[in-house]
Amino acid sequence: MNAYDLAKPYLFRLDPEKAHDLVVRALALASRSVVAPRVLEYLAPAPDPRLEVELFGLRFPNPLGLGAGLDKNGVAFPALAAFGFGAVEVGSVTALAQPGNPQPRLFRLLEDEALINRMGFNNEGAAAMAARLGRLDRRDLRGRAGRAILGVNVGKSRAAEVSEAAADYRASLTAVWSHADYLVVNVSSPNTPGLRTLQRSEPLAELFGVVAELRAALGHKPVLLKLAPDLGDDELADLVATAEEVGVDGLMATNTTLARAGLRSSHREETGGLSGRPLTARALAVLEFLRGRTSLPIVAVGGIFGARDALDRLAAGADLLQVYTGFIYRGPALVGEVLTGITRELDRRGADKVMELSGRT
Ligand SMILES: Cc1cc2nc3c(=O)[nH]c(=O)nc-3n(C[C@H](O)[C@H](O)[C@H](O)COP(=O)(O)O)c2cc1C
Repeated sequence: MNAYDLAKPYLFRLDPEKAHDLVVRALALASRSVVAPRVLEYLAPAPDPRLEVELFGLRFPNPLGLGAGLDKNGVAFPALAAFGFGAVEVGSVTALAQPGNPQPRLFRLLEDEALINRMGFNNEGAAAMAARLGRLDRRDLRGRAGRAILGVNVGKSRAAEVSEAAADYRASLTAVWSHADYLVVNVSSPNTPGLRTLQRSEPLAELFGVVAELRAALGHKPVLLKLAPDLGDDELADLVATAEEVGVDGLMATNTTLARAGLRSSHREETGGLSGRPLTARALAVLEFLRGRTSLPIVAVGGIFGARDALDRLAAGADLLQVYTGFIYRGPALVGEVLTGITRELDRRGADKVMELSGRT
C-alpha cells in the first residue's frame, strides 16, 4: 500500500474537479520547496540509461511522460517530474486567459476506469505561464526534475474565431516558446467549438507556416501535432501527408474521444471528451495506422494503464508514451510499474535501448 492508495478513497469521494485542484495545489506547493521534490524522488523508480530516448535533439530520461491537462498553468513541473516521468507536458494554454466551461465539467466513470471532461481550456493564459516558467530556473532543479523534459501544449482561445486561429496560436506560441523543450499544437480537443476543423490540410499549413516563422525568429524548437482519435482513415492519411509537408516534428496519438460505445457508468451521456480504459484500443489502432504511413516520431497517449499497454504501444512503433487518466486511477506507482515493465522486457530481449522495442533505432 503506498501513499496514493491511502489518499485515493478520500480524493475519489470529492467532486472530481475539487480533487484535481487539491492535488495540483499540493504539487504546486511542493514544487516551490527545494526539499519536497527530492523526497518524492525516493518513491520513483531508479533512472536507467537503457530507458533514455534521444529524439528531436532532446534526451528524454525515459519514454514515459505526463499528458497535457493535469498541470494546465505550469505550476507543478518539479513535483510532477520527481515522480519519475521522463517528460511533463503542461497546458493546454491559450493566448488569452479564460475560465473554461461552466462546472460541473469533469466526471469520473468508475466502472469504466474513464473520465469525461469538457473543461474547455480553463487556464491563466500564455503570458502568465511564460512568466511562471521563466521563474523556474531549470539549472537550479536537481535530480529528476533537472533532467525531465518540459513540453508546453498550446490550444486556441475560445474568443478567437477559427478563421483567426493562426494569429491566436502565434501569440501563445511566441509567449511560451523560449521556456519549452518542445511544443504541441493542440487542434484535437473536443471542447472548443470548431477546434477540430483545424485538423485539415489548409489550416494546418497555415498554422505550421506560423511555426516556421517562429523557428526562424526565435530559434528552432520541436513542434508536435496532437490528433483526435475520431478521425477516419482517409483523414488520418491526409493529415500524415500534410504533417510531413509542413514541418511537423512529431505526432501525438491521441486526444480524448467523442465515442461512447460500451460504457457502463451513469455519467456516460455527459458531453465532452472520454479518456482512459475505453480509449486504449482506439488509440493503439490510430498509432498503428499512423506508423504504417510515416516514420515521423509518434507519442502514444490514450488509455495506457500499465506495463502491458506501454509495451503494446512501443511494439506498434511509438517513440514516447504519455499517461493522464491512468495516473489518476493508479497514482504515481504507475510510473514505476510501466518503467519496470519496460526494463524487464529489455532484459528478456537482451536489448540495450528502449527504442529497440519500437524498431526505431
Ligand atoms: C481532465 C482532462 C483534461 C485534459 N486537458 C487537455 C488539454 O488541455 N490539452 C490536451 O492536449 N489534452 C488534454 N487532455 C487529454 C490528455 O492529455 C490525453 O490526450 C487523453 O486524456 C488520453 O489519455 P489518457 O487516456 O491517458 O487520459 C485532457 C484530459 C483530461 C482527462
